[in-house]
Amino acid sequence: MRSLVIGAAVLVFAWAASGIAQSKITTLEEYAKLMKTNAQANGGMNKAIGSGAYADARTQIATLRQNLTTLQPFWAERKRDDAVKILKDGLGRLDALDKMLGAATVDQVAAQAAAKEFGGNVCGACHKAYREGDAQTGFRFRPGVF
Ligand code: HEC
Repeated sequence: MRSLVIGAAVLVFAWAASGIAQSKITTLEEYAKLMKTNAQANGGMNKAIGSGAYADARTQIATLRQNLTTLQPFWAERKRDDAVKILKDGLGRLDALDKMLGAATVDQVAAQAAAKEFGGNVCGACHKAYREGDAQTGFRFRPGVF
């Protein structure tokens, strides 16, 4: 019993330490937190591709994949089919990019273009539809979404 409890504690710790966002979003704070890890991972991915650190880039892709997967039920529950579609498209783009970066010879220019497209067509597309505000005043959901 005791080792079971310790085992569970270790598991929880490992989960918390992994930096992977929670699997369900229920508050505005959780949503914003996930978006901040999105920004970090997306920036990290672009930077890593630019410097040829493809293994690092793939680690960032894993975080982005996890985040988009977490976002899917959030937007599905709100019946925002267009957002769900953007997320699905995003996951496909991440898979394709991951494959490019795992190849024996990486086409860096093509990977950079694909990463940029991901930012515009996935992050950018959803922000255009559902986000308002700016870095100065803070970002928010468009009214009626959350
Ligand atoms: C399916 C919709 C959707 C996708 C995809 C999406 N976002 Fe967001 N994002 C939002 C909404 C809505 C907000 C406004 C609410 C908020 O700020 O928490 C937001 C807010 C943000 C913020 C501001 C967080 C804050 O409140 O300070 C950042 C940074 C951000 N997103 C980065 C990204 C990046 C980078 C990506 C792509 C990897 C991305 N987002 C993909 C919907 C999305």
